[in-house]
Amino acid sequence: MVRIHPSILSADFVNLERDLERIRDADGVHVDVMDAHFVPNLTFGLPMVQRIAEVTELPIDVHLMIDDPDTWAPQYAIRGVESVTFHAEATNDGVALARELRARGTRAAIALKPGTAVDAVLEHLTEFDMVLVMTVEPGFGGQSFMADMMPKLVELRSRADEAGVELALQVDGGITADTLPIAAAAGADVFVAGSAVYGHDDVAARIAALRDAGSL
Ligand code: DX5
Ligand code: ZN
Repeated sequence: MVRIHPSILSADFVNLERDLERIRDADGVHVDVMDAHFVPNLTFGLPMVQRIAEVTELPIDVHLMIDDPDTWAPQYAIRGVESVTFHAEATNDGVALARELRARGTRAAIALKPGTAVDAVLEHLTEFDMVLVMTVEPGFGGQSFMADMMPKLVELRSRADEAGVELALQVDGGITADTLPIAAAAGADVFVAGSAVYGHDDVAARIAALRDAGSL
């Protein structure tokens, strides 16, 4: 099953309701929260995510690129938010945070920057609903896909299968109709795409093309 989650980082923030409507055929919407500390870029916070949840029926996938997710992430577990993703590099206790997110009724996901190994996650696979393997340095849209991250996906998928754990594997950064099949072959099943969707007029066709690329 291929899931396409367009990233609104590449949408028009002033016309966000229109741009959410343009992706209604997607499987979810990826919402990047950045704090200008964990990453060198700034977007928006909880009030914006609450408002997005009011105007879209798409499941919301919140990607927190912020310091101290242990304090802030639980607040994002609101109605309409399907999953909250925090970074392994930013949390003091990823297992405790994932448990708290699940207790609040949302899926818990942990993200790995390109320089972060999978080892810490492999020991606790059952604690997470999804692992996000970043395929660019987080912070900006429009960067090139890092194919050298694929071994992380292969390892996560094989260890999850061995253990009989149902685990979604998400990739984020540089996903296009050309790179999506590479990540899918390595085990990914949830694909974030910003510029490949919103960088074009025919947004619905771009989503369809990405989905096709994943089912070849
Ligand atoms: C980058 C963000 C991504 C970004 C991806 O740090 O996490 O979600 O929107 O953009 P593209 O698909 O253009 O690489
Ligand atoms: Zn993201």
